[in-house]
Amino acid sequence: MDRQQAKLRVDELIEKIDHYNYQYYQNSISEISDFEFDQLLKELEKLEEEFPDLRYDYSPTQRVGGTITKTFETVVHKYPMLSLGNTYSREELVDFDKRVSKGLEGQLYEYFCELKFDGVAISLTYQNNLLVQAATRGDGTRGDNITNNAKTIKSVPLKLRSNIDLPDEFEVRGEVFMPKEVFEKLNKEKEERGEEKLANPRNTASGTLKMQDSSIVAIRKLDCFMYSFMSNDRSITTHGEAISLLEKAGFKVSQTYRKCSNIDEVFEYIDEWEEKRKQLPLETDGIVIKVNSYHQQEELGFTAKSPRWAIAYKYKAESVSTKLNGITYQVGRTGAITPVAELEPVLLSGTTVKRASLHNANEIERLDLRIGDFVFVEKGGEIIPKVTGVDIDRREESLEKVVYISECPECGTQLIRKEGEAVHYCPNELGCPPQIKGRIEHFIQRNAMDINSLGERTINMLYEKGYVHSPADLYSLTYDQVYELEGFKDLSTKNLLEGVKKSREAPFANVLFGLGIRFVGKTVAEKLVEYFQNIESLKNASYDDLIAVPEIGDRIAESVVQFFQNEKNLNEIERLKTAGLQLEAGNQQDELKSDVLVGKSFVISGVFTNFSRDDLKKLIKANGGRILSSVSGNLDYLVAGENMGPSKLEKAQKLNVKIISEADFLQMIQNP
Ligand code: IVH
Repeated sequence: MDRQQAKLRVDELIEKIDHYNYQYYQNSISEISDFEFDQLLKELEKLEEEFPDLRYDYSPTQRVGGTITKTFETVVHKYPMLSLGNTYSREELVDFDKRVSKGLEGQLYEYFCELKFDGVAISLTYQNNLLVQAATRGDGTRGDNITNNAKTIKSVPLKLRSNIDLPDEFEVRGEVFMPKEVFEKLNKEKEERGEEKLANPRNTASGTLKMQDSSIVAIRKLDCFMYSFMSNDRSITTHGEAISLLEKAGFKVSQTYRKCSNIDEVFEYIDEWEEKRKQLPLETDGIVIKVNSYHQQEELGFTAKSPRWAIAYKYKAESVSTKLNGITYQVGRTGAITPVAELEPVLLSGTTVKRASLHNANEIERLDLRIGDFVFVEKGGEIIPKVTGVDIDRREESLEKVVYISECPECGTQLIRKEGEAVHYCPNELGCPPQIKGRIEHFIQRNAMDINSLGERTINMLYEKGYVHSPADLYSLTYDQVYELEGFKDLSTKNLLEGVKKSREAPFANVLFGLGIRFVGKTVAEKLVEYFQNIESLKNASYDDLIAVPEIGDRIAESVVQFFQNEKNLNEIERLKTAGLQLEAGNQQDELKSDVLVGKSFVISGVFTNFSRDDLKKLIKANGGRILSSVSGNLDYLVAGENMGPSKLEKAQKLNVKIISEADFLQMIQNP
């Protein structure tokens, strides 16, 4: 066979195998026997061996894995991966429907209902019909590049059918999951080998996707349902159309969706799936309700975290009863003590539960717990199960009330409980090991210094050796100190030190968050940085200065003031400064191109020819303008694209807001 003939046959084989794969994985149809299928695959492998340049990345032979990824590259999502608002209550769904109706000002609308699959979100990017990238959600803005691992999932198409008209570039999002059956089998094998069992299919799927060796991912048999399509192409106008397109293009879509014309039909869907979902091959924890029209989705827009056009309804959790064998106490990074119920292992919604959080002493009091009681355990939205009550009928008389601990289980210090607070604390901030290690773990996380060459285990070793007691100590680690740690070689040592070094570039907001000030999450840290610009001003800010900042309340203000009153914290900050960390807002904010739009505010609506909406927003900001979320009397300009919502237009006209086109806008910045 010459190369040309080989190429024809390779193309043909890939197409055939992809087709049988699709039929098998999407439609559960075996058109040929396993044997015949293997023959095709073998033939392809042989040709690829003979003609290595015909071994394409998208060949089905590439699904067996074999690549090793030490650390996953971080990728920025082109479209952020948001989360969904969720509720357990039907009343709140009615409220959601009212908000949608109000937001759409009398227009007709439809919903598209889907099951909420309990797995891990994934985003797949295709260019010219080929899979070019697969990424995890991460923090919604940045995720991990897990392309090699995703390629091993048979239901993720590597090459799309060419007979469908698809945009040159687009993203598809969905949920990777481990089918219940696969999970159970895996756990049975673990048990037989005497290994620790896995907690649940979702965590296992998540852990598997992040494995270094893709050949192990391949044998773990993950699966994937797709549920969103994102592109700049405006010819698709509803979510339902997008779903059909995905199906036609060869993606696996769960056939459980339904279009509903009103909220009552949504309720019917909810009722129908409440029990039926348990027969599905994967875990689901609710349903997702989406406004079907893209145009209406755009009109409804987003809150800071989630779309206003979608909501998740969660089914109430299953409940079982089991024996409370004991209570243990965990110490967190802030010294907070969390009591944990140690339970007689029990099966709950497909997973074995052994422990459950009891939150605090009040909760134990409220439940009136006694060791030896039979308690009811539920798995709510969170992974961690909850104890919801005691089966009083089964209580033995001899059982005695639980006495809460008075000393730290880790360092023996007398616990304290602040006025009005439910939680006990260990005040030994600087001497209590889990607090020290917890602070360092917090400091290195992705949203903070993002030192991914360090992990819990390494921190533990560094602490045990006495090299690291606080975040600042990380910056004086030496090669020899790291090299002598168990499991470290030359390369891993250099890698760790390089990660620490590179973290010096992390923006001030990350450092501030990393300091672990109580109630200062990432968003609050960003607000504080925007307002105070540098650590000196923040340090000197009074309680009144702080509460004057939008969205900073008294709880945060108090906590910040307290933090900077502590000599030890000031000392740590000095050390971080000496180590070269960013303690002022750098020029890393979007570069200001001009100030022609300073003092002017904009709302953008509709679809534009030359820019995506995001690009347009960036351009406005880069020229000094401000973006507002809705049309009001304060607004200067409404930039109107094609297909913009009639209500916005009307409102802008009524309020005498200037309505400009994309071209007018360009004029404004190019020829001010
Ligand atoms: S749509 C803007 N549809 O739930 C959010 N999400 O809480 C768009 N999920 O991160 C998500 N099933 O991982 C959507 N049918 C479904 C889903 C689904 C599960 C997950 C997804 C997302 C999370 C949102």
